[in-house]
Amino acid sequence: MILDRRLFFSATQRNRDCIGDVLSRIIKKGSVLEIGSGSGEHGVVFQKRFPEIIWQTSDPELIHRKSIRSWIEYEDLIKIMPRPLEIHVEKIPWKIPLRIANSLQGIVSINMIHVAEWSCTVALFRESGKLLNKGQFLILYGPFKICNKHTSESNYFFDNSLKIQNDLWGIRNLEEVCDESKKNGFYQEDIISMPANNFSIIYRKGS
Ligand SMILES: C[S@@+](CC[C@H](N)C(=O)[O-])C[C@H]1O[C@@H](n2cnc3c(N)ncnc32)[C@H](O)[C@@H]1O
Repeated sequence: MILDRRLFFSATQRNRDCIGDVLSRIIKKGSVLEIGSGSGEHGVVFQKRFPEIIWQTSDPELIHRKSIRSWIEYEDLIKIMPRPLEIHVEKIPWKIPLRIANSLQGIVSINMIHVAEWSCTVALFRESGKLLNKGQFLILYGPFKICNKHTSESNYFFDNSLKIQNDLWGIRNLEEVCDESKKNGFYQEDIISMPANNFSIIYRKGS
């Protein structure tokens, strides 16, 4: 008997289609590694929307990896989607199966960097920079400050609520994130305004 351990993250219901639309401009063939997959709802939705790719989920939390597995089983994707990997961005090197590493075309991280310490953003770019080759992408989705200013009042309150949970969490400043990308050979290809004061940022490996 399969235990249903699926978690439901309400934001994924609201943002899956618009994030999928951004991905549809970029994704071709091969595999995509998702960092901080959470419940796994995005993973199964994107695997079904982009059947030509392999969507490799990951998360450091066991409860999330169990949810991801449960979603994969529930959506009958077990023959297509690999098991979620245990990846905490700062624990390097990330252990990625060879078949995924060899076909990797990009890395996606949704709503992760503001619920982790800044050192995790640094590690995300450093490891992605090692794994990805010229022309391959790293996409971040979430709220950002621009020129160190919140883009909405609701993001200001959200940022405060994050800092109450952990004073090292918080909405990141886009310019500082971009600096990290450059240090690791990426350039910022596009910034896309998304609903609810979020952004999708597309970084491309330049060298
Ligand atoms: C707000 S949730 C977002 C989950 C999912 N991406 C979504 O949009 O629903 C943040 C996720 O990042 C993961 N996370 C936190 N710190 C991390 C780290 N250092 N490395 C990788 N993932 C991390 C958490 O376990 C959690 O699943």
